[in-house]
Amino acid sequence: MTDQELIDKLKVGGIVSIRDYLLEQQAKGLKIARTESGDPSFSIPNNVKIAMNKALLENKTHYTAGAGIKELREAIFQRTTNYNNLNLNSYNDIIITNGAMNALFGVFHSIVDNKGYKILVPTPTWTETAINVTEVGGTPVYYKFNPFSDTPIDINELEELVNADSGIKAIVVNSPHNPTGKVLSLNNLKELIAFSQKHDLYLISDEAYEHVIFDGIQHISPASLSDYDKIITIFSFSKSYVMSGLRLGCACTTNKNILKKLSKIVRCTINGVSSVTQWGGVSAVLETPKEYFDTNLAEYTVRRNAIYNGALHCKHLVPVKPEGTFYLWCKIKESWRPEITINRSWHMTLEYLKLGIGSAPGEVFGPGGTDQIRFSFSCSTEDVKLAADLLKELK
Ligand SMILES: Cc1ncc(COP(=O)(O)O)c(C=O)c1O
Repeated sequence: MTDQELIDKLKVGGIVSIRDYLLEQQAKGLKIARTESGDPSFSIPNNVKIAMNKALLENKTHYTAGAGIKELREAIFQRTTNYNNLNLNSYNDIIITNGAMNALFGVFHSIVDNKGYKILVPTPTWTETAINVTEVGGTPVYYKFNPFSDTPIDINELEELVNADSGIKAIVVNSPHNPTGKVLSLNNLKELIAFSQKHDLYLISDEAYEHVIFDGIQHISPASLSDYDKIITIFSFSKSYVMSGLRLGCACTTNKNILKKLSKIVRCTINGVSSVTQWGGVSAVLETPKEYFDTNLAEYTVRRNAIYNGALHCKHLVPVKPEGTFYLWCKIKESWRPEITINRSWHMTLEYLKLGIGSAPGEVFGPGGTDQIRFSFSCSTEDVKLAADLLKELK
């Protein structure tokens, strides 16, 4: 098979094909750094394991209220009030979902409302964000997210997009940002809120990586800066508490219209999240010791530094120093294989596969990912260090 044929084959299933290929190589006994996808290598907090076992033993295995058990909604209400500084009225402003992905789907569904509305989505973006907008009958309208700038979102560009299209009803913002690792500044967030208010748009804030943030940078929720009632904040338990396989997240808003529609959508699709997982979630929020976050963050910082320094030593890459998330985003220099003019990020991914390093080609993250590439450092520190050492070997 030629490289081009392999790339075309890989493109079909995106990151999944890369993972399959890596698993195959691993099975053959080759040492492979699993830096292609983002699932934290750590374990869930012990208190969560105990709480879930207890829930099982106490037969808390029946249907729950569609919007989630009151205990979990109340725990999240406390946390979002005291830690995130959101101004929610009560636990009724929180809907429990099957992960942040399910929250995004439900919120997009509530907004698009069978009217085919459009939603502003950053590019590059976590791929599933755009897919979910399409899935509910909406259309993603991409706006540029520039990780090489201290103001990644250009409000003038947003103004132009909205003025050109009256069908735009919402904007998605994601900070810390997957795939670039960039964290939005207070000023950029304030500008975004003012822009959303001016055009009466829903502001959907995906804060899945709120706890994976480096160098003492503070995570800021847009909803902590304004009482604008069209802000919807989405949290995930997958990264904060490493509960990725347990599937837990939530959407928080004071907007009655969204709350009403979202609870109906959750009720009629997933019919509530696993009861046992929800009891684990109560413990995650109320009982996880601070050391849990500190230990994980210290390890992520070691990995972040290793892979960032590795990329700095590769003459073909210009890396963005990750401020949050567990992703390293790099620009592919024009000087690398100039004879390749299309699918450059796929070609580089393939070259790195041959070296034993997993990566995700920038193109899978939308048009803004062309000529860029992402490495994940959520896998073991050993794998991250292996990748960091090998990055410079690229010819
Ligand atoms: C930006 C972003 N939002 C949401 C999610 C999904 O989180 P969950 O596992 O809670 O569905 C991810 C997962 O990688 C993500 O990167």
